[in-house]
Amino acid sequence: MTDQRSGEDSATEATNQVAGAQGLGVVQAELGDCTRCKLSGLGRQNIVFGVGNPSAELMFVGEAPGRDEDAQGIPFVGRAGKKLTQIIEAIGQSRESVYIANVIKCRPPKNRNPESDEVETCERFLFAQVDAIQPRVIVALGTFAARTLLRSDAPISKLRGREYEYRGAALIPTFHPAYLLRNPQSRREVWEDMKRVRALLEARP
Ligand code: URA
Repeated sequence: MTDQRSGEDSATEATNQVAGAQGLGVVQAELGDCTRCKLSGLGRQNIVFGVGNPSAELMFVGEAPGRDEDAQGIPFVGRAGKKLTQIIEAIGQSRESVYIANVIKCRPPKNRNPESDEVETCERFLFAQVDAIQPRVIVALGTFAARTLLRSDAPISKLRGREYEYRGAALIPTFHPAYLLRNPQSRREVWEDMKRVRALLEARP
């Protein structure tokens, strides 16, 4: 790549970051100190909006914050988060280069599954985050994220292994890192999915 081209690329990246940050700022302001669903009154400490590069090419979507995430206000910082960081780094990315968010932004008590009214209330903020960031590739982590984004009832084991189109991005469903901690034998499938992600990112648009 010539110096001029790489200069243009970094100027474009800087412009995209500003646009993405402004867009995410609007979404976060709209979310505010949300009390739209019952989770706000069920012991929530922090709203976990999302973290990372506001113009990321790659976005990860999990289910909901757990205890550590609720305490820190940052997604995927507990044990599953460490596993996710390893996965991100295995494809040459970093937590700073990607964007990480969840379907719902508040911790369900005792880490129970999110309920349908909670998802219905909160999912539009995830969709707005996707529209602000405009990633090229989205990884849906686990059944919950994949079902929400794909409007499907199928389990992750049926949904993974192929690529979908979602709001202008390629969507790759894979197993949730917490599932991987319990079922290390599924590492091979996750690695297959991540190789597909890496290839998509390497293929210039
Ligand atoms: N599991 C999730 O789905 N999201 C988090 O932020 C943490 C654990």
